[in-house]
Amino acid sequence: MRNLLILSSLIVFMLFIACQDARETEFMRVTDLTCEYLVNPLSVDVLQPRLAWKIIQTDLAKKGQFQTAYQIIVASSKEILDDNQGDLWHTGKVKSSQSIQIIYEGNELKTMQACWWKVRVWNNRGEVSDWSEPATWRTGILSADQWHGEWIGGKPDEELRKYREYVEENYRSRDFDRNRWANPPAPPSPLIRKSFDVKADIVRATLFASALGYYKMWLNGERIGNYLHAPEWTNYDDYVQYQTYDLTGKLQQGENVLAATLADGWALGRLGGIKWNRFFPHRGFYALDRRLIAQLVIEFSDGTLQIIPTDQSWKINEDGYILLADNFAGQTIDARKIPQRWNNTGFDDSQWKNVFVDKSEKRTLIAQHNEPIRVHAELKPVKIWRSDDKYLVDFGQNIAGHCVLKISGRQGQVITLRHAEWLDNGELYTRSLGFAKAEDTFILSGGDDFFAPEFTYHGFQYVEVSGLDFPLTDDMIIARAVSSDPAVTGAFECSNPNLNKLFENVFWTQRNNMYSILTDNPSRDERTGAAGDVQIFAQSSIFNMNMAAFYSKYIRDFKDIAHNGQFFSMIPSLRMEGFWNGWVGAPGWCEAGIIMPWRMYENYGDVRALENLYTEMKNHIDATRRENPELIWRIRHNHNNDWLNANTIRNMPDTTYNNRRGRTPDDVFSTIFFAAAASMLTDIASVLRHSDDVLHYGALTDSIKTKFRQEFVDEQGRVQGDSQGAYSMAIYYGLIPQNLIQKAFAHLVRCIEEYDFRLSTGFISTPLMMQVLVDFGRTDIAYRLLESTRFPSWLYLVSIGATTVWERWDAWTPEHGFREDTMNSFDHVAFGSVVEWLYRHILGINPDVNHPGYERFTIQPRPGGTLTWARGSYNSIRGEIRSEWKIENGTFTLEIEVPVNSSANVILPNGKKHKAGSGKHTFVVKNVERFF
Ligand code: BGC
Repeated sequence: MRNLLILSSLIVFMLFIACQDARETEFMRVTDLTCEYLVNPLSVDVLQPRLAWKIIQTDLAKKGQFQTAYQIIVASSKEILDDNQGDLWHTGKVKSSQSIQIIYEGNELKTMQACWWKVRVWNNRGEVSDWSEPATWRTGILSADQWHGEWIGGKPDEELRKYREYVEENYRSRDFDRNRWANPPAPPSPLIRKSFDVKADIVRATLFASALGYYKMWLNGERIGNYLHAPEWTNYDDYVQYQTYDLTGKLQQGENVLAATLADGWALGRLGGIKWNRFFPHRGFYALDRRLIAQLVIEFSDGTLQIIPTDQSWKINEDGYILLADNFAGQTIDARKIPQRWNNTGFDDSQWKNVFVDKSEKRTLIAQHNEPIRVHAELKPVKIWRSDDKYLVDFGQNIAGHCVLKISGRQGQVITLRHAEWLDNGELYTRSLGFAKAEDTFILSGGDDFFAPEFTYHGFQYVEVSGLDFPLTDDMIIARAVSSDPAVTGAFECSNPNLNKLFENVFWTQRNNMYSILTDNPSRDERTGAAGDVQIFAQSSIFNMNMAAFYSKYIRDFKDIAHNGQFFSMIPSLRMEGFWNGWVGAPGWCEAGIIMPWRMYENYGDVRALENLYTEMKNHIDATRRENPELIWRIRHNHNNDWLNANTIRNMPDTTYNNRRGRTPDDVFSTIFFAAAASMLTDIASVLRHSDDVLHYGALTDSIKTKFRQEFVDEQGRVQGDSQGAYSMAIYYGLIPQNLIQKAFAHLVRCIEEYDFRLSTGFISTPLMMQVLVDFGRTDIAYRLLESTRFPSWLYLVSIGATTVWERWDAWTPEHGFREDTMNSFDHVAFGSVVEWLYRHILGINPDVNHPGYERFTIQPRPGGTLTWARGSYNSIRGEIRSEWKIENGTFTLEIEVPVNSSANVILPNGKKHKAGSGKHTFVVKNVERFF
């Protein structure tokens, strides 16, 4: 009886526990599991990857939840995981509030290891969540000797080698013949295939593949993956990324065919930075021959493996149907030359040669850890019209990508597509494209054709189609917008529709420039990773999209250091040893090597980003100091100043605008960045606990600042140059002594007044000025600049029909037309960096570097200007943050949402401060106008 009693009370107790667990999990769910910032990545070759999750609170009324402990199980199979066994790692219950950047510390992982994992957490009330849904990551190929594939392709390009030799031997000579080297011809894209037999009982099939140049692959005629422009742009001499595809379930018993084609891509094709070198050949920068490397690994249920590596047995047809493919030039496809079923089974390749195996290729291959470049939107024409014998198409939005044509016509009929961002008297404006011809040509087969020029990309809103002898209709053409494709994290809306349009335009501009690096523009013959543009736009981009994996890759590319120890100012660097090295160390640009890791730390709590470049950061500062012992940064290898400030404006619709007072003196500009970088390095040293370096670089920062004051700041707080930019940057980066700071700020306000409340700032100082105005209590001026529709301003561009952000305020004006300049892009992120201000000050969402990764953050909306309401969100690494406010009859109401395991310092317009834990909160301020 007693036993029965004990048993029944035990059952009741267990039921109680079970019910309690069930009830608890209703309002706390662990979701969004990531490994190295990615959802279920197929190939991770970091031996100790970092895991993260978010905790969702379903009942938002339950406030103030945070994690007090977690438990992670990592298993080698789903079954083992379901059984709650962690044969790879079982953390047990770990008391910790960390839900991001958890370093895997389980058993050593081997190549192609499947890792199944799940996690549960405890909150501050001692309640435990349910286990998360299982997530996975797989390791990649962890050592080079496990690559069985060889680099294969066509025979070596002797023509190109001759060009290279000629240039290298003769470029200094007076008789150097430019025309001989400028445009070495490119052979057509080769067609490569391998037929192989497979038996039954496959449990898993994984393809690892990469190339020099771009590649595209098929299995039995079906396209593999949706990656475009792979492998992505890296310094290929340092490393090449490989991509991984899960082909489980796609192979058939018996014959299968893997097929590939290759194009120049970034490794061989034209690259922007090279144009400034008078000598360097336009083709073959990183490699002289297109090459493919791949291995298909098939695992059978009996534990055996079949590996199909690229090797001598693969067949090649060097006379492919893609006659030309280059990012800048465009793509030419001859549909008559597409061999029927060439990429499928049942094709007779006996006439094809065996591939050339390039034993000389020895590149380092690493797994791609960032989201692929792929199609993210398809746009239909908004207008098609005829102009002479051509058709013009307007897609209504400036994008980067290509057009797809579905068409049937005469055999041999040639259809040409030209692309442009803007129209000039009803025709395409292409004068700014330089040698980027942006022209796709399709030669029709005579049957139904489908053309998708995926080995090139253009920046465009308008397309001209020529060669048609029948009307172009909107079912024949669409535009595909293509970009690196991480998740969208930000949203913004407010009562000024023009600001909403600006937000949308900046978003598009970001998208259009995300091609494995953040480029300066997607249209003209440049498209480089101009590091100044990247660093200044970084925070805006991070609010908009989850840039963690994207920037992790970009930061790795900074490892490529210039000969003197400084960072390059364009990444990838395009170093041209022996020719030209002009991209070294431009102030405001090269510091991206320090600023970008710091952003990663602030927003994502990423300490590895700091560690990975720490030595290079120190070398950079040391080199700058060595070359400038007086601590005024005068010896510069390149210099851009506050790029495109007022002094560069020519095409003014309004003659009252002064284009002579925007520039900041070069030494002032560069020394500000010397101090800023040294100071940031000091903070980084402090995070990494390198106490000697904290003292050393802290002292250096102080000395640079002292020198700056002696040299450039007078007793009235006047900074040499007396420009909006000079004051903004000097104040923002702390170069003005405390006793002069108010005076210096007053000078800034004067400089803005002298410009009749218009901008004279360039790429670098514009967002800093907007921030400084807020910091010193003149948010009203910031709103005035932000909401202005007068030239030059953000909303001026909106008012004249821009759908992206332009490189220059005066790129085109209704009064004067185009600014005649080859440097005139309509798709440049830099001035879009104002979006950071919309998040920080209209929504009020601010990361807190002292509690990185949104462990804590600030919400401080600053209503002002014409705004009566605003709402938006940021899906941070710890979860979604929302902010929504309105002003009605003088009453300001703010509603916010804070994610679990995070907390917000809320600062209201009346200065009142509140602490807010997770959940929904509402705050009210009466008679709010009194406070702004
Ligand atoms: C690019 C800019 C870049 C600048 C600096 C320009 O050609 O388009 O965005 O920052 O060069 O050198």
